Amino acid sequence: MPPRRPAIDIISHSPDQTRQLGYRLGRHLRPGDIVLLVGQVGAGKTTLVQGIARGLNVEDYVQSPTFALAAEHAGRTVAGQDVALYHLDFYRLEGVADLDTFGYEEYLDDESAVVAIEWPQRLPPATLDTYLLIELRHLSDAKRRLVFRPAGNHYSEVVDGLRAEVFGAQPRSNHSRD
Ligand SMILES: Nc1ncnc2c1ncn2[C@@H]1O[C@H](COP(=O)(O)OP(=O)(O)O)[C@@H](O)[C@H]1O
Ligand SMILES: [Mg+2]
Repeated sequence: MPPRRPAIDIISHSPDQTRQLGYRLGRHLRPGDIVLLVGQVGAGKTTLVQGIARGLNVEDYVQSPTFALAAEHAGRTVAGQDVALYHLDFYRLEGVADLDTFGYEEYLDDESAVVAIEWPQRLPPATLDTYLLIELRHLSDAKRRLVFRPAGNHYSEVVDGLRAEVFGAQPRSNHSRD
């Protein structure tokens, strides 16, 4: 697995702020992108996906795919390209057999879709080598810490673009190569 460098470390003070951050992220994503969301129940993973969905012009209401492991939404990128958003949630995954039955590879391999995955730790190790990992942590009632760790050059660029927008800074140019 390539090194993961924290690239954005930010506190959200409300569900709306988390959605707004997701919205901005969604506008930087393109078909084929994979976003991994790690954090306890209530950390804000689904809330962030709601924002990502808005950033991808998804009109459906996005909620946790409670009984299914996956939900599919039709959207469009900023560039006007049709894109599917696959929202996967492995919280209720029982084991390897379940994962195999589910056929998750088809989602991950679909280059025409953005894939957002809650509980990606339940995937077999080394399933993915490039992705944007976002860790969410509950700090207090409405405070959440979000840490973005891009793995791979493309995701570093995505995060650079997002950081410039959120913090108004110039993108950094000193990436270690991965
Ligand atoms: N800053 C925040 N960001 C995200 N959610 C927040 C925040 N503050 C409070 N919340 C609440 O925490 C809960 C997060 O739920 P959800 O997004 O479903 O979490 P997860 O998918 O990680 O289990 C929601 O009820 C949301 O309103
Ligand atoms: Mg959730």
